[in-house]
Amino acid sequence: MLLEIQTYGKQVLRTPTEEIPEINDELRSFISDMFETMYAAEGIGLAAPQVDKSLRLFIVDLSPMDESEGRRVFVNPQITAFGDEKDEYEEGCLSIPTIHEIVTRPTTIRITYQDLDGNAYDEEIDGFLARVIQHEYDHLEKTLFVDRLSSLKKSLIKKTLKKIASGEIEVEASENFQL
Ligand code: NI
Repeated sequence: MLLEIQTYGKQVLRTPTEEIPEINDELRSFISDMFETMYAAEGIGLAAPQVDKSLRLFIVDLSPMDESEGRRVFVNPQITAFGDEKDEYEEGCLSIPTIHEIVTRPTTIRITYQDLDGNAYDEEIDGFLARVIQHEYDHLEKTLFVDRLSSLKKSLIKKTLKKIASGEIEVEASENFQL
């Protein structure tokens, strides 16, 4: 089932998320819907608040750009450390259609999370996957990538953000990877 992607201006994107107490069939069904929704929108990452659920959960699938990658599910993730090195990349977000801006982030993270079977992991992750995870993790922390831009950049996209909030600009597939 396709879920509705919540766009900039919706309160759910600024609402605290809750830990998932139990990984059950209802949750697995919701995650399956999240993947369907993400693929339909041609995204490579999607967080639960983006589909109107204030839960600590996001999904990632980098296979469109890396054949060795596939579906990944992060339940109750916690980033426990960031590396010192940083890099830049032009990010886009399914909840912020048409805006793509350079965001600086650490290249390495350490993260704990559970998978769909409740197995617990503690991993060090680097490269593009680390970036996508940080973008999705931000969604769980009520943060959007536009919050991380300079005040000059913010002022330049202000009008577009208003149009998204008023519904004048809607979710669309993009040539860029969206998270
Ligand atoms: Ni996003």
